[in-house]
Amino acid sequence: MLLRAWLSAILVVGAVFGQQEVYEQYRRWITTQPVAVQKEAEPLARYREHLRGKGLDEQTVEAQIELIRKQGSRMEVERWNRILTAPKPAFNVEPNAFLVEMVKGRKPGKALDVGMGQGRNAIWLAQQGWESVGFDPAERAVAAAVATAQKLGVKLQTEIATAESFDFGENRWDLVVLSYVGAREFHEKVVRSLKPGGIVVLEAMHRDATKGRSIGGAVVFDSGELPGLFRELRMVRYQEPLSVADFGRERVRLVQMCGEKPGE
Ligand SMILES: C[S@@+](CC[C@H](N)C(=O)[O-])C[C@H]1O[C@@H](n2cnc3c(N)ncnc32)[C@H](O)[C@@H]1O
Repeated sequence: MLLRAWLSAILVVGAVFGQQEVYEQYRRWITTQPVAVQKEAEPLARYREHLRGKGLDEQTVEAQIELIRKQGSRMEVERWNRILTAPKPAFNVEPNAFLVEMVKGRKPGKALDVGMGQGRNAIWLAQQGWESVGFDPAERAVAAAVATAQKLGVKLQTEIATAESFDFGENRWDLVVLSYVGAREFHEKVVRSLKPGGIVVLEAMHRDATKGRSIGGAVVFDSGELPGLFRELRMVRYQEPLSVADFGRERVRLVQMCGEKPGE
């Protein structure tokens, strides 16, 4: 009886791990495709051809495509839960250095950390006296942030949400942090939600960093793309330096932007 339960547990774990690996393989493939392919409405059709080309039988190909189609979003969340709560983190657990530089000397107000992960930036802001709010779909990462904030005795407000579902509000924030989370799909909401005089601080990957590396397309920007996306803001700083990325920990080209909403 005990042996049967044990065997079935192993089978369940094996199946779950196998499924996550199917998704990881797809992610590695899509993130190394040309931009035009990544932006296609139906990249899975092309991935199907890729799997067929690898000689997989038709049933396996269709099973993998179905799995990615139905579970892809959840698997992406699981991926971040795993990375952000790993016992030995493979990313910079200190606050983002560009954020620290841009916030220096500013009067603390209301800050929003979009896709806050395990809270390294939101918690640092709270420690500096900001009223810090953060959200992320990766619930285990957010739970880790809440636990750290409690341990440190700082106030942190969190929500399990995506940039699509979160209510950014209007004229609400003195600071919006976009640290390795992208912006292309929700930049208008961010601008609307800033108070006049409020700033957006963003760091992400430059397209050059993707050469030979598997990096999610949402956090990759082309030269000069961000000032265009955030054209309503006054650019306080925009640069594309070669520097060690907080995620990946390699020296690559980054994009760093600090933009201020006019009107104050
Ligand atoms: C590279 S991590 C960056 C985490 C954090 N901003 C930092 O700098 O430490 C990317 C984060 O984006 C989150 N994310 C993924 N999809 C998202 C979405 N649609 N809306 C908001 N956050 C998202 C992930 O869960 C993950 O926490």
